[in-house]
Amino acid sequence: RTTRRRSTPTVTLAEPRGLCWGAERAVRFVERALDLHGSTVYVRREIAHSGELVRHLERLGARFVDSEREIPDGAVCVFSVHGVSPAVRAEAERRSLRVIDATCPLVAGLHQQVSQVAAAGRTVLLIGDAEHEELQGLRGEAPNRTVVVTSVADVADLAIPVDTPLAYLTQTTLSQDQTAEIVEAVRARFTDLVALATDSVCQASQQRENGVKSLSSRCDVVLVVGPADSTETARLLEVAGHAGARAHLVPEGDQVRADWLTGATSVGVTSADTPDSVVDEVLDQLDELGFKHVWVDRTALADIPPLDPGRLPAQSSPAP
Ligand code: F3S
Repeated sequence: RTTRRRSTPTVTLAEPRGLCWGAERAVRFVERALDLHGSTVYVRREIAHSGELVRHLERLGARFVDSEREIPDGAVCVFSVHGVSPAVRAEAERRSLRVIDATCPLVAGLHQQVSQVAAAGRTVLLIGDAEHEELQGLRGEAPNRTVVVTSVADVADLAIPVDTPLAYLTQTTLSQDQTAEIVEAVRARFTDLVALATDSVCQASQQRENGVKSLSSRCDVVLVVGPADSTETARLLEVAGHAGARAHLVPEGDQVRADWLTGATSVGVTSADTPDSVVDEVLDQLDELGFKHVWVDRTALADIPPLDPGRLPAQSSPAP
């Protein structure tokens, strides 16, 4: 590999990028459900955080709803990749919904762990964004024994004796630096702590971050393709910025601005929460702007071993 700037206008494409394994899997669940059940398939919330995916599945006939309460009794209901609380499952059962559970198996594993340690008497600190669906679902496993922690200040404010039996897990909506600071503060303050999910934690975000760092070291400009409201794309932009790159968000395929590329001979492209079809549109646009050579940077894949499906927790519902 070379870190030299290239003189021929070149695009470096990060690998991995785009949708994580869990999101790809969830989309396949919905597509299969649509094959089997046609337009009577309802999806509770965005299947994964990607407007493009929602549009794709809507075109195929899926109906997206915010709550299981909006779904007619007895209809097919797909739970999104982020998982749901036991209360949502109970409501779906009460309404006789035919549930297809597309919860990422790694998230399902976290649900199991939260429920087990809470039942064993530990209070669980959920480190992440309180508004994120994944944390809301996890909270629902033990509403009276979970506390969301979003900042170091939150740790200081916890009205919990220092020797309380605690567990904590980190959810990927915060940046790695923020998360590390919060974990450090938790460790410094409390004495009886268990870390959850240390051996099943998802590598998808870490690999994409490593990929964007590699792009930043090689390229004049880094383009992050993905939804403007995605925490993953925001984090990739942040990482690229910290690494000193001229980084820009490209929410849709045709939104690369020529002035971003002034003086640049190497452009790095990565993506999160968006299908590769959008990245292809960005590559087409870059081609028109003179960046005709494309190569793939697999540095991040070499850094971390790929997800081993053999270590995934058992799936609670069969695929449709
Ligand atoms: Fe994706 Fe599952 Fe990881 S949804 S980001 S593979 S925890």
